[in-house]
Amino acid sequence: MSDDRLIVALDVPNALDGLKLAKTLGDSVSFYKIGLGMLTGGGLALARELKDDMGKRIFLDMKLFDIGATVTASVRGLAQFDLDFLTVHGDPHVVRAAKDGARASGLKILAVTILTSLDRADLDDCLYREGSVADLVRERAARALDAGADGVIASPNEAALIRALPEAKGKLIVTPGVRPEGSDPGDQKRITTPLAAIESGADHIVVGRPVWKAPDPRKAAQAIIASLNPSGPLQ
Ligand code: C5P
Repeated sequence: MSDDRLIVALDVPNALDGLKLAKTLGDSVSFYKIGLGMLTGGGLALARELKDDMGKRIFLDMKLFDIGATVTASVRGLAQFDLDFLTVHGDPHVVRAAKDGARASGLKILAVTILTSLDRADLDDCLYREGSVADLVRERAARALDAGADGVIASPNEAALIRALPEAKGKLIVTPGVRPEGSDPGDQKRITTPLAAIESGADHIVVGRPVWKAPDPRKAAQAIIASLNPSGPLQ
C-alpha cells in the first residue's frame, strides 16, 4: 500500500538505475523526486516513463532562478509533460514567472526559501540583510506564497513556523531532512522523523538514502508509511 505523503528522492546516477529502483519499490511508492543530479543521466525521460507508464506522481527538483522570461519559458516547456511539482527559488519575480509558465497545467510551483545548507555566515557572504535565518525563511516563505507559489520547501523545523503564516493557508509544505527512527543522518543536520515532520505541518516528506540505500528498499518505504499511520493502515 502506498501513501503519497512519502516522496522518494531518486538520487541515483542515471535513469536506468532509477527505473530499476522504482520497479523494486513497485506499488509501495507512488511519488518520486528527480533532481538536477540526474538531469544529464536521462532524468526527464525517467520522469515521463514513471508518470506515463507506471502512473507515478513526479516532483522535479530544479530550483530554477533566472530572468522572468526565461523562467516562464522553461516552466512552460516542462509543464507539457504533465508532472506534479517543480521547485524554483522563492524570489517573488521568479515565482510569478513560473506560475505564468505553469498556467493551464496542473504543475504546482514550490518555492525554496533559503537553502538549508546555508548558515548566517553564508547569508552575509550573499549580502542578505540582518536577522536570524528562521526570520528570513519565514519572510521569504510569506513573500513567495503571496506571489502565488503553491507551496514551499522547508526543513522540518521550519514547517510549523511556515504553517502558522496566514499566507500558508491551503498551501503545500514539503520537507526533506527526514530520517526514520534509528537511521543514519548522513549529511543532514537538522533532522526529524517522518511522523514529526507531518505533525509540524508538512503535507509531504522527501526521503532519499534511507530508502534507496536500504538492503530492502521496499521494506524501508513500507516501514516509513507505517510510521505515518501509527493507529494502523489507512482504509
Ligand atoms: O538522502 P536524503 O533523504 O538526505 O535526500 C533528501 C533529498 O532532498 C535530496 O534529494 C536532497 O537534495 C533534497 N533536499 C534536501 N534539503 C533541501 C532541499 C532538498 O535534502 N533543503
